Amino acid sequence: MNHPLELVVILGTAREGNQSSKVVPGIVDAAADRDWKTTVIEVSDHPQSATDTHAGDDPFRSQMATADAFVIIAPEYNHSFPGELKMLLDRQQGEFAHKPVGLVGVSAGGHGGIRAVEGLLPVLYTLRAVSVLPQVLIGGVHELEDPFSVERHARQLGAMFGELEFYAEALRAARS
Ligand SMILES: Cc1cc2nc3c(=O)[nH]c(=O)nc-3n(C[C@H](O)[C@H](O)[C@H](O)COP(=O)(O)O)c2cc1C
Repeated sequence: MNHPLELVVILGTAREGNQSSKVVPGIVDAAADRDWKTTVIEVSDHPQSATDTHAGDDPFRSQMATADAFVIIAPEYNHSFPGELKMLLDRQQGEFAHKPVGLVGVSAGGHGGIRAVEGLLPVLYTLRAVSVLPQVLIGGVHELEDPFSVERHARQLGAMFGELEFYAEALRAARS
């Protein structure tokens, strides 16, 4: 491997005072442990809908284009994922194709954002991304200072990164 894998982490909440930001440091640290290069993109910096922007206008498109893997942090809103995240995904034009995506669900309730994560699967399939298992599911996020201090979450994250690495390396070679 002559250059590090590039990871884009997408923070899927635009809510002021959100809880999902709490999971970002643990993900960035896991990537750093593997010597990956990481960029964090927040949907709040991407306010346009899919229909009011044009190819090339999106300042983050080049970061998406060079990414080898993605992690999407998806809070659960009304048993799905936030509209701002859908707008970002709808603006992609091939940047996700043939790349792995790890999913991190976040919720106030006890199901760990599973419905947000499951809602993303058909979208990622359509973008021709490869969603990996296991997912990381973090419920009761308001009660957690560091979500990855919970052994189950740390274990899920480690396993998810193992899968991301496998697919990121294989698919980078296949795309080149
Ligand atoms: C519009 C809205 C809908 C929500 N719906 C759900 C839900 O269906 N299930 C759930 O467990 N939590 C729900 N929540 C709580 C969020 O999961 C909670 O705010 C959590 O902290 C993650 O979102 P955040 O990163 O924006 O804080 C909802 C929150 C909002 C703002």
